[in-house]
Amino acid sequence: MAESKQWWRDAVLYEIYVRSFADSDGDGLGDLQGIRSRLPYLRGLGVDGLWLTPFYPSPGHDHGYDVADYVDVDPRFGTLTDFDALVADAHALGLRLIVDIVPNHTSNEHAWFRERRDLYVWRDEPNNWPSTFGGPAWTFDEERGRWYLHLFAPEQPDLDWHNPEVPAEFEAILRFWLDRGVDGFRIDVAHALYKDAELRDEVEPFPVTAFSSDWRAGIDRPEVHPLYRGWRRLVDSYPGERVLVGEVVFSDPARVAPYVRPDELHLAFNFTLLFEVWDAERLRATINGSRAALGDVGATPTWVLENHDVTRLPTRYAGGEPGRRRARAAALLLLALPGPVFLYQGQELGLEEAELDDEDRQDPIFFRTHGARTGRDGCRVPVPWTDGAPGFGFTTGSPWLPLPADWGGVAVSAQSGAAGSTLELYRRALALRPRGGGLAWRDGPPGSLVLARGDLTCAVNVSGEPFPLPPGELVLASDPSVQDNLAPDTAAWLRRGAA
Ligand code: NOJ
Repeated sequence: MAESKQWWRDAVLYEIYVRSFADSDGDGLGDLQGIRSRLPYLRGLGVDGLWLTPFYPSPGHDHGYDVADYVDVDPRFGTLTDFDALVADAHALGLRLIVDIVPNHTSNEHAWFRERRDLYVWRDEPNNWPSTFGGPAWTFDEERGRWYLHLFAPEQPDLDWHNPEVPAEFEAILRFWLDRGVDGFRIDVAHALYKDAELRDEVEPFPVTAFSSDWRAGIDRPEVHPLYRGWRRLVDSYPGERVLVGEVVFSDPARVAPYVRPDELHLAFNFTLLFEVWDAERLRATINGSRAALGDVGATPTWVLENHDVTRLPTRYAGGEPGRRRARAAALLLLALPGPVFLYQGQELGLEEAELDDEDRQDPIFFRTHGARTGRDGCRVPVPWTDGAPGFGFTTGSPWLPLPADWGGVAVSAQSGAAGSTLELYRRALALRPRGGGLAWRDGPPGSLVLARGDLTCAVNVSGEPFPLPPGELVLASDPSVQDNLAPDTAAWLRRGAA
């Protein structure tokens, strides 16, 4: 494995949504052996590492983000032996492997919730906090005659991090996976572990659709920072530059910055581009704003356009052909930015949000809010591997979410080696992507984004008019039409000759 210093500062990490990636045993759910069988594909794609969403035993009320045992593998996904084999194979191919840790809440089927009830947050009367998934954040427990807190589903009771037994348990859990050779952790809901000790009411009215936690005053408490300084020391005490990546869900990067000071988390997701529209000025301002806020603490912003919680990019950008073109252009912008990039499985195929019948939907958000939010199933539909094969090569059985019948053309088999395909665009871009160095904006026509990284120039046309390419040798284009001109919704990479 490459031992470059601070490898994570410009790595590309690929998110594997385990239940939808590859199924080895025909039960319709992806699993660890399935991932193992596809490692050569990931190596060939050119990513540096993988982030696996939770594969721990779980009743599945939030598809694995309700963990019933932090130190085992759900039998539907495999065994600890399979996990060890996956780590060994990934490392042999030079791929890092990061696992998801879910410390804010457990499943209500975790033994702690039955046997060690003081590990959770209880109150005699609920406060006014809403659950992120809709409805109140409190559920009455008949047996105890008290209310327990759940920022997410009622089946996900929140742990009380003010109880010192909780951090002690999690230190042991981190050590368990570090000893098994993981290269780090993605920390779920990293900003919310400690709640306001007095559990005071939030100021109403609450924003109903905000994915961001900017408005919650009861979280983002100072006590979380000493915890992460301790986790940083722990992770850094292991060899091999392992990393902590925080899911710190604020839309304002200035609120993410305190989590990535040099002695805390190595990285945190920067979700700003995830919610940005296709507009040159806004994209530039968002990129600059993230770099300024995080650069101030010596951190490097990460870049994310897709994950398992949000609508697929082509669909967000307009849908249909315009959405697909914009998403391909955005891929070249994304991979030209300095700093780590997170890709979500299927993004490299240009997958669009799948349309699902209501009876096929599985996401609790959909059920709990009766469609007030759309649910997250459309971006979680399994990966189409093979055009023409049963289950598109994802499974020999019946996939847990149906794949759209017309996905043959976007399957890996159909795009592999096909000139002009989105998959080949990602492969080329990952191979040519600049590493290290800063970013310099260049002047360009209105509605353009033109930036230089070393000798590479990236030009993106976000306007409605074509414009001439900047100087340089054309090395990669998001669309075959790009020659001397850049059409609307396309992008190009150019190499400048010796200056
Ligand atoms: C963030 C995860 O990405 C999401 O899928 C999950 O529902 C919540 N955290 C709660 O764990």
